[in-house]
Amino acid sequence: MKGLILSGGKGTRLRPITHTSAKQLVPVANKPVLFFGIEAMADAGITEVGIIIAPETGGEIREACGDGSQFGVTITYIEQDEPLGLAHAVLTAEPFLGDSPFVMYLGDNLLQGGIEDLVKAFEEGAPDALILLTEVDDPQSYGIAALDEDGRVVKLVEKPKDPPSNLALVGVYLFTPLIHDAARAIKPSPRGELEITDAIQWLVDTGRRVDPHVVVGWWKDTGRLADMLEANRLILDVIEPRIDGELIDSTVEGRVIVEPGAVLENTTVRGPAVIAAGAKLSDAYIGPYTAIGRDCVITNSEVEHSILLTGSKVLHLEGRMESSLLGRNATIDRSPRQPRAYRFMIGDNSDVGIL
Ligand code: G1P
Repeated sequence: MKGLILSGGKGTRLRPITHTSAKQLVPVANKPVLFFGIEAMADAGITEVGIIIAPETGGEIREACGDGSQFGVTITYIEQDEPLGLAHAVLTAEPFLGDSPFVMYLGDNLLQGGIEDLVKAFEEGAPDALILLTEVDDPQSYGIAALDEDGRVVKLVEKPKDPPSNLALVGVYLFTPLIHDAARAIKPSPRGELEITDAIQWLVDTGRRVDPHVVVGWWKDTGRLADMLEANRLILDVIEPRIDGELIDSTVEGRVIVEPGAVLENTTVRGPAVIAAGAKLSDAYIGPYTAIGRDCVITNSEVEHSILLTGSKVLHLEGRMESSLLGRNATIDRSPRQPRAYRFMIGDNSDVGIL
């Protein structure tokens, strides 16, 4: 069994963060989303992992994941020149996958409980494909499956205007090599992509067995800020508290990780929260569901339900910052200069909410 992780997507819904960084490397609880997928593969005993990368963000992904030894796997990078769809990605990976069955995992997805049980079910049941489904409120945004009375998959449609059910395809799939024939047989969708959803429909249409598995725990596609913050919440809820940094006149309550080298002075942290190495917090309040990245500085400010990437700073904010995502080295500061005015230097597609 091999693993294929798709990490080529552009992340348009997470701009401006994704103007300069791959969406799969945006951290959740201070760990890149992509790492959760690689770890899930390693935990399921998969050691050969292929990662699909795009020309624009591939370098950064290679640098973050390396040869895979940090996860106990071997990583092969596979460049997909153009984002022509998930089934196109599968075809691009064919030389790596060969005739091996494989787990395909979308690099911006998070699945509670990992994939060990799924791999076992796939190996024992021996279907031609195993798909994961979960109920969603907005079926127009996903690939949707319709099941018959016996629970068999009868129809799959990508982002339907008129959804046949509210069962969405989760971004984790288990396939036999037959999926390559399926991907070759289909035509591009109206959005110009070879859809994996259509390839699975081809399996159904040609009488192959596609087993559905309804997900019991949570699943998140972290494509948008709200999803990212929710994923952050879900992961922080289960962290093991540990205080390794330095606390000076500071209070830490609840599930909190303070990494070695972080310094908190005259600060209150109410978890769940994680504070990375090198962070300097003074006269600050850190509220629940906050992940503070490496070398961040928070002074005389209140931050909660937010994700701060490496080197970002929040200084002398009056009022509390919440539900925010700050990119690397971004600074929010109070300006003493006259005239008293807001002064911004903001990247394309940024979103600022002021009081
Ligand atoms: C892709 C798939 C879709 C699936 C979703 C899960 O959509 O095409 O079938 O439900 O991932 O995250 P995309 O993220 O490309 O819009």
